[in-house]
This record gives sequence, structure tokens and C-alpha cells, in this order.
Amino acid sequence: MTEEVIKIKDLKGYYRGSFGVVHAVDGVSLTVNRGDIIAIAGESGCGKSSLAELITGKPIQLLQLEGGQVFVNDLSMYELDEEFIRKEILCKVIGYVPQSSQNSLNPVKKIKALILDVMRERIGRKPKNEPKYKEKVLQRVAEHFKKLGLERFVLEKYPHELSGGMKQRIVVGISTLWNPLILIVDEPTSALDVTTQQRLIETFKHLKETGIVETILFISHDIPVLAQICNTCIIMYAGKIVEEASMDDIVRKPQHPYTKMLINSIACFNPDGTAETKLEGIPGRPPDLKNPPIGCRFYARCSSRLEKCKENYPPFFISRTNNTPVACWLYEEGGDY
Ligand SMILES: Nc1ncnc2c1ncn2[C@@H]1O[C@H](COP(=O)(O)OP(=O)(O)O)[C@@H](O)[C@H]1O
Ligand SMILES: [Mg+2]
Repeated sequence: MTEEVIKIKDLKGYYRGSFGVVHAVDGVSLTVNRGDIIAIAGESGCGKSSLAELITGKPIQLLQLEGGQVFVNDLSMYELDEEFIRKEILCKVIGYVPQSSQNSLNPVKKIKALILDVMRERIGRKPKNEPKYKEKVLQRVAEHFKKLGLERFVLEKYPHELSGGMKQRIVVGISTLWNPLILIVDEPTSALDVTTQQRLIETFKHLKETGIVETILFISHDIPVLAQICNTCIIMYAGKIVEEASMDDIVRKPQHPYTKMLINSIACFNPDGTAETKLEGIPGRPPDLKNPPIGCRFYARCSSRLEKCKENYPPFFISRTNNTPVACWLYEEGGDY
């Protein structure tokens, strides 16, 4: 039996401000089952981080739910009150590591003080009549950190005394303290050098193998990184999902012209799982989401476009090659192109 950890239906989330309205997430439906390690991939600006924010039920300022539903562990996230989300959902059900969170650690606090702050926020003030409460909490944290390859001394450090990779592992460590049902990580490896990236990928594999987290939503623009850890891959383009398939199929048999372009920009996979990116990169850029096109959002960059693509957004068709959904008119007749 599969268990749906996340179920999203026709989700829309827009930024509203003096700049106008940005249609960052624009009709996204997806399901994450227990045990899945799902990749969300796509170029910068395609709405990946906004989608993660919307899943938490408490998105960042200016980003608002405009339509659709998010269920996490069968709870309708936008019907819960903020206090419940803060205390009962974040960390305990959803471990969330936002993009660049390793750089937002308070610089004037030692790691142990930061952790005690998080504890206070999640479970309230320390219980009365419990001697050595802080010591007990930090002992538990140290044991958990050890599983992520972090020694106890890091608790005594200030953020600036630690490397980027260590800070990232600390943030992941804090987010997994309560063995959440799902871990959502947003571009965790992006600011790291290749060796540190590899260590962090091993940490995620270890979290899964030891059962600390069973289910992971891994967001990254870096497909070779995703290919090392994820079993399913969702490709986002301009606020919408354009293709969903097994990670293997995305890499070996990409179907949507956008996915093909992303994969073709990777020159080759190295035997160690890393990859080289072609120097020329990807031509063109995604459309302005303040004023998204009415037809296929990839139309302007697509070398296989048809006349109808300009005015009509494609529904999902099933590709014959790998029996997976592709939002592209080329697959309308049930064939491949
Ligand atoms: N705070 C914000 N205010 C206004 N627009 C934003 C904000 N953050 C992101 N956006 C816009 O929302 C769209 C999606 O961005 P984002 O979710 O960060 O994409 P990704 O994570 O795929 O790079 C982009 O057009 C981006 O410019
Ligand atoms: Mg992002």
C-alpha cells in the first residue's frame, strides 16, 4: 500500500507587490508517496522554491496561495492555524531546508544557542522541574549530529567559524531532529565545491538508509546531482510541471523539448556520478512570469513548436516511450516525436 505524504491539487501561488503579480506557481498537481525521493528540477526562476514555500503552509512574505490545495499527511495545510503549523508541522512532519539557509544562521549566536532557540519555538519553554534540561537536549542533538558526521565541538562554534558544507549539514541536522515524515531541501548543494557536494549527497543517502527520513523532496537546478539520489524527477518550467518520469528516463529518454534541452546541456556524466556542463549552456530564458504567455510557456524557445502551441496551453499526454505524462502537443496523438 502506498501512503500519500504530500498531495497537491492545482496549486497556484503568486507574489503580489508594487512590482505587480508574479505567477510563480501556476496550476501544479503532484503526489509524493512515502519512501519516494523526488527531484524537482528546472532552470532558475521556474518556481521551484516558491512551490516548496507553498507546501509548508506558511509561505514567505508576498507569496500568497491563489488557488488549489496542499495536503500533507492528510492535513489540509491552508486550514491549519499558524501556531499549529509552527509547533506541530514544521520539523516534526516537514523538515524544510530553504534555499541558502546555511547563510541565514544568526552570526552572533553559537550553534548550540541557535538550536535551543529552534527547540523553544517548536516545543515551547523548558519544562519546570526538569534539571539539566539544556544538557539533555544538547546531548540528544550531539547524538543526532554524529549520525550526520558532525562532531560535538560544532555546537560551541559560531557560524563564521564553520565551512559551508558543515553549515549545510547543521541546517539539515536541525531540520531532521524530529525524524520528519518528509524532508524538503532546496538547492542544498548549490554553493558547495564538488567534493563537499559529494559528502552532502552521502549524508542524504545515509539519512534515508538509517530511516531518519524516509521521504525526500530534493529541489535543484543541477540534474547530475539529482540523478545520484532521486528515483523520480519532476521538471518545472515557468511555474508549471511539464514532465514527470523516473530519474533514469529523464536522463536517458527525456520527452518534453524543454527536458531535452536541459539534458543536452549536460556534456557527459563522469564515472563518479558528477557531470560536465557544456560551456554554451542553455539558449534563451524563461518568460516573464508577471505576464506569462497564454499558450505553451516554452513556445518562444522550442525548436519543435507547432502553430497551435502559441495560443493553447497543452494538457498532459502520455508518451509512448516511457508511459509518463508530458505537457506537450507533440504527444497528442499518443505517439512520440
Ligand atoms: N520575493 C519575491 N518577490 C517577487 N517575485 C519573486 C520573489 N521570489 C521569487 N520571485 C519570482 O518568482 C518566480 C519563481 O521564482 P523561484 O520560486 O525562486 O524559482 P526557482 O526556485 O525555480 O529559481 C521568478 O519569476 C522569480 O523572479
Ligand atoms: Mg530556487
